[in-house]
Order: sequence, then structure tokens, then C-alpha cells
Amino acid sequence: MQKLKTSILLLTIVLLAACQENQSSNSKDLFDFGWKFTKGEVTGAENPNFIDQEWQDVDLPHDWSIEGPFSKENASFSRGAWLPAGKCAYRKTFKIDKNQKDKRFVIYFEGAYRNSEVWINGQFLGSRPLGYASFHYDMTPYIKIDGNNTLTVKLDNSAQPGSRWYTGTGIYRHVHLITTDKLYVPVWGNYIVANDCSSKEAKIRIQTELKNDCNKIRSIIVRQSAIDAQGKKISSIETQENLQAGESKISKSELNVKNPLLWNPDSPNLYTIKTELLEAGSIIYSETNKTGIRKIEFDATNGFFLNGKNIKLKGVCLHHDGGPLGAAVYARTIERQLEILREMGCNAVRTAHNPFSEEFMSICDSMGFFVMNEMFDEWEIPKSPATTQNGKKIRIPVQYYADKFKKWADIDLTDFVLRDRNHPSVIMWSIGNEIEQMMHEEGAPISKRLSAIVHNLDYRPVTNGVYGYGWNKWPNEEAVSYSDIKGYNYIKSEGFDKERELFPKALGIVTECESAQSFYPRSTYLYGDDKKTWWEALNYEHDEAFEWTEKRGLIAESGIEAWRSVKARSNIMGQFIWTGFDYLGEVIPFGWPARSSSFAPIDLCGFPKDGFFFYQSQWSDKPMVHIFPHWNLEGQEGKTVTVYAFTNGEEVELFQDGKSLGKQKNNTKGVEYQSWEVTYQPGELKAIAYSNGKSIAEKSVKTAGTPAKILLSTRKTEMTANSQDLIYVECTIVDKDGNVVPKAANKIEFSIDGPAVIAGVGNGNNMSHESFQSNYRKAFNGKCLAIIKSSKKAGEIKFSAKSHQLEATTISLSSK
Ligand code: GAL
Repeated sequence: MQKLKTSILLLTIVLLAACQENQSSNSKDLFDFGWKFTKGEVTGAENPNFIDQEWQDVDLPHDWSIEGPFSKENASFSRGAWLPAGKCAYRKTFKIDKNQKDKRFVIYFEGAYRNSEVWINGQFLGSRPLGYASFHYDMTPYIKIDGNNTLTVKLDNSAQPGSRWYTGTGIYRHVHLITTDKLYVPVWGNYIVANDCSSKEAKIRIQTELKNDCNKIRSIIVRQSAIDAQGKKISSIETQENLQAGESKISKSELNVKNPLLWNPDSPNLYTIKTELLEAGSIIYSETNKTGIRKIEFDATNGFFLNGKNIKLKGVCLHHDGGPLGAAVYARTIERQLEILREMGCNAVRTAHNPFSEEFMSICDSMGFFVMNEMFDEWEIPKSPATTQNGKKIRIPVQYYADKFKKWADIDLTDFVLRDRNHPSVIMWSIGNEIEQMMHEEGAPISKRLSAIVHNLDYRPVTNGVYGYGWNKWPNEEAVSYSDIKGYNYIKSEGFDKERELFPKALGIVTECESAQSFYPRSTYLYGDDKKTWWEALNYEHDEAFEWTEKRGLIAESGIEAWRSVKARSNIMGQFIWTGFDYLGEVIPFGWPARSSSFAPIDLCGFPKDGFFFYQSQWSDKPMVHIFPHWNLEGQEGKTVTVYAFTNGEEVELFQDGKSLGKQKNNTKGVEYQSWEVTYQPGELKAIAYSNGKSIAEKSVKTAGTPAKILLSTRKTEMTANSQDLIYVECTIVDKDGNVVPKAANKIEFSIDGPAVIAGVGNGNNMSHESFQSNYRKAFNGKCLAIIKSSKKAGEIKFSAKSHQLEATTISLSSK
């Protein structure tokens, strides 16, 4: 009897072990660590025997352009932030265990800037010109089991100026090694549509591509399950499929979900869709994708609807860089950007003008942002932005994508839609930004072809940001007709009116418009001689720089008007201001030494400028009031200064040293801000906002004394010990009474005690040439920033900031 029991136990163990071997061992592993890197042209690096010992050790994401230095000699020009760019190479050596011998191996790059060429063990896998494209290669035939494998990546970003904005150079996004059974779902092979829904019921339609790379027929069950946020399986369905050797096919399933929690900006509810392939009862493949159940609709009279509710898109255009970190952004960079944008009242982002990272899309899903997902800045005709150099008007031909368009556009666009079509945040696709060919007949066939590619792959509408409406020329009507939503860049009221008259049934959105932010950097208010000195230090690119900057003033009326005209038109779905955050490059209207843009209401470090509060007053319901300028206007004593206020209250009252300077109404007669002429004297200004006669918000600015201490603040104090999590530490210089010193420029030194490093520093001054990679930073107008990165070790972290003659500050953080 005992013998029988033992035999049964042994048999059970053997069966379990066999089953275990058959269990799904597919994985998507982060392949970011332990790379070798060198700049410049290298020959023979694809050869497995090549010696890369001397090369630098790096981890991804990696952008070496951001290391600098800034130089007028750098061919990237002001467009590329005067930073270096060029050729480089990466190598990574890795082993595959022998128990993986029957697997399939795919290398997946989320993005590498640019003209990548990839080899595995000396075998060429492919090239990809567009640095923003995600791409992947099947390495299976060339992989050595139980031996060394070497992956080589060469990049060439030497054609400069290579873009109208800063791109970065390097493998600046994540890389993954995907290991699967030979019967598998290819990369981007799952298409999940959850747009057919109400709060009572949802149908989730899933199309799953299946591929059998084995040389025999295989019978499988495709199991699709929907799992809620608590991890509970709420719906599941199984479909039997047979695949011949080498066959690929699409398997279709439909899941029903009762009483779904719909996705929306306030409650971005997500569900997990688990796709499993089962063979003889064992799971041979599985993957999960997130989906949001939500219905989007578009209407020519009332604009955009989510789940039956009319919503105005209060959007910003963003470029892909993360300020001091350059192009190598981590999830936390994106999350923080979106937190700040949300505080401004923003609910939508346009990915200007190229595919963003996958993380960006996932974070928009989980934070409830809408995305206008944009693909192209150029079709077949290159752009040559105008500038003035040494008093002469010139054009800078940018060597970006136009020469690649004919060969690559359809492939890049297809992959872009395949990669991003499961994201609930994506509500429309944009096939272009200010494309020259849209003005002529020759744009029509291209526009038709690109729209058709998108329409064949997805249900969401196509738009295209076109300039010209309401200016002296109008785009080609046929070219525009292939977009479902007309994308208006910089349209004026006359343009809107004429459009409505000509095309009353057209759907419309402002793909791009001016922002309500002054061109002057954050907290910069110049009067008299100070203004002269500031301008003299600049070697601006555009002759009109002074005129443009002054015209835009402290209250950018053109940006305010852009919002006013959208707010007044129910048929226009919303607007996307240029831009949400300042970005590297495109320093219009300035020139050397400027190296980052100044269009946005938020600076390169994420510090709000005055324009931020304009949007908050218009886009958000949270009671607020903001006044500016600051009240340290030395030299202006006894002179008259205009003080402005933004509020979402009904009225606002300004007090100088306790005395009322009068109450003003808000949002009446088309005026969205208030102003008072005030005689400057050091002291205090205070604004109180009222609604229904009651105070709802107040803000004061006081003349600050000399800098006394450094305040440190963070949005979180704990990070993950994964070598990729970040904490942003914001430093503010205050006087002995805690007032912000608005012109403080003290140099702050940072130090860390614990398992973390400083990944970047900055201060939001778009003229500064101090390195972004350092352990010190001069404050700019009272503020600077340090970005701390975790290591793989957990532990307590003490972060300190000190400066000559200032009280030092230390904060406690941790990595877990
Ligand atoms: C727009 C263009 C943007 C940016 C902006 C600067 O016309 O679409 O990419 O260049 O001008 O003002």
C-alpha cells in the first residue's frame, strides 16, 4: 500500500514537471541593462569577435546628445538646441539558456534615433530610418543556445540640422527581448476594440493574429478573458483554432461585460484583457493588454462626445523630450508632465509631430488624457524654416524625413497604428503637420493613401494639422477631404466663419494655436534699462524678435483670442496650444544663446509661468486666482506698473499694502483677465477672487529680502529600486520670512547619500549653457531642479542642497 502511494506521488510529480515544461514560458524582458557604447563611425562592430572592451558601459534609455556641450559649431543649429549629434554604436552580449532551445526570439526596440542598423551574431536584421518608429526583428534562426550572442546596433544621426526640434541621439527608448513558443501572437497582433458600450453593457471585440512557425499542424484554444482592476475575471471566452505548418490567421472573439466601469478623464478605469493559447490543456502562450471601455463620437454641430457627454478638448501640443533628460525619458518624467498639465486644466495632448513612446500612451490611458496621435511633420517635401543670420534672411534646410517618405511612410504609419490602436486614450490619428503638399493638388493622392491605411486598421477618425485657413491661401480642398476631421493650425475667426459657410457639415478641431504665454522666460519682467540690457545680450535669429516678443507682451492676446474663438464655437472640438511644456530646440524668436523654446505656459523644468494660470482660470473649476508681476521691481519705485490677474471667480479685487485698488468683473465682454495700473513701491500685493459675493481664492506677492534659505519640494518621496524611477526635487530660494526671491540666481550644490544618482539638473532658463548633467545648478529667477534616479539597490536616501551664504536643506527619500 505504502509502495502504491509512493508511486502515485512520483507519477504526480513527473506529470506536474512535464506540464510545467509545457507551461507558457513566454516573456517580454526589459533588455535595457549592460550595453556597450561608443560615439563615431566604427567598422566591424557587427562581427561577434569584435573587441568592445574599451567602449563605455551604458544602460538604456540613453541619449548622448544631451550630454553636450552646447556649441555654436554644432551643426544641429538652434533647431537642435546647439547640441552634438552624429554616428554611434551599441553592443550587448547575452546568453540564452538551453531549456529555451525550442523558442522564438524577437528583439523589440521602442525607438532608436536614427537610421538604425541591427545585427545579431554578425547577421544583418534590418534598418529603420525613422528614429521615432518602434520596430522588431525575429532573431530565432541566428540565436546560439547556451553560448554568447551579440547584438550590434549602429545609428547615424549625422545629417544636421536633422530636425526642426531637438531629437536626441541614441537608443533612447526601452528595448525588450521577447521569448515565445513557436506558436504565438506576433508583436502588435492583438487588436482590442471596446467602443461599443453603455454603462449597462459592453462588447469587447478582439482580433488576435496567430502564427505557427512549426513544421506540423497544431490545434489550440484561444482563451480571451477580461479582468477588472481588482484582478477578478469578469468575462471569458474560448475559441478552437487549427493552424497548419507556417500558417497565420486571425482569430475573432467577443467578450461581454455587464455594468462596465467606463473610462473617462475623472475615472480612467482600465480592464486587462488576457489572451492565452492552450494546447492539450497547457498554456503555451499568454499576453495581457489594457483596455478602457468607452465610446467616442464626433459631431459637426456639437464637437466631441465621450460616453454620450459633450467634452471640449483643452489640449496642448508636446514635443517628445523631457527637458534636462533630453530624449531619454522615463515613465516618471511623463507622469509628472501630465500631473502638471492636469493641474493646469488640460485634458488632451497632441504628440507633435511624431510617434511618442509606448509609456506615454499607457500613462495617458491610466491618467485619463485624450491623445491626438500624430505621425508626420513632413511628406515628400522637406521643410526649411526661415531665420535671420548676420542680418540676412536665410532658410535652414532640415534633413529630416522627406527623402525617406516614399519608401517608408506606409510602413511607418502602419506600424504606428498597429502599436497604438489598443489605447483608449487615443481618440484620433493625425497624418500630418503643416504639410506643404496639402496646399496643392499633389497632396490629394498622398492624403488619400495615408487616410486609407489608417482607416483599414482602425475605427478612429483621421485629422491633419493644416495651415492656411483664414490666411491668404486655403489648402487644397480634395487633399483636405480625405481627413475625417479638419485640423486647423493657427486659424483666425474669419477662417472659422468662412469654413462654416463653405462646409457646414465638416468636423473641426484646432490642431495648433498660439498659447497665452509671453515669450519672456518664467518670472521675467523687464522695465527701462533692464529690458535694453537683456536684449543686447541676445543674438536673436529673427529680426522681428523684439517686436514679436513685445507684441505678445505679458498677456498674449493672440493666445487668449485663440481660446475665446474655440470656446464660442460648439462645433469646434477643442484646441491644442503650442506648446504645453517648453522643449529643446526651436528657439524662435530668439537665437544663440537660446537653446530651448519659450512658447509654453510651463518651462523646461516643469515650473509654471504666468500663462499656466490663464489656462487654469479657463480650463479648471478649482477656485484660483493669480497675479503678476512679482513685487521686486527695484528701480521702478514711484512709477506706474500694470498688474494682471487671472481667476475663475466672478470678480477679483486687488489690494496694495492692505488698500483696495478696486474690484473687477471676470469673463465679461470677452475679457478673461483683469489689470490695474499700480504705483510701484516695495510691499505687498494681494488679490481676492469672489463668486456669489464670497471669497473663493486669494494670492499675494510680497517684496522679498535677500536670499536666506533653500526650500525643497517633491511630489513623491519614494521610488522603485529599478534603476529607472525618478524623483524630481524642486528648489526654491526664499528670504528669511519665506518669501520667494524672484530674481535669485544662487548656485546650488546637490549631494546624495544613499542608493541613487543625480540624472539631470535644470532651471528653466532657455538661455543657460550650464550642463544638464551635473551636481550643481544656478537658480534661475528663484528656482532650479534636480532629478534623482534610483539604482537597483533599495534604501534610505538623504538629498541635500547647499549654497554659499544660504541655509542648507536636506530631505529624506527612499527607494524600495
Ligand atoms: C508651427 C509648427 C510647429 C512649430 C510652431 C512654432 O507652425 O507646426 O511645429 O514650429 O509653428 O511657432
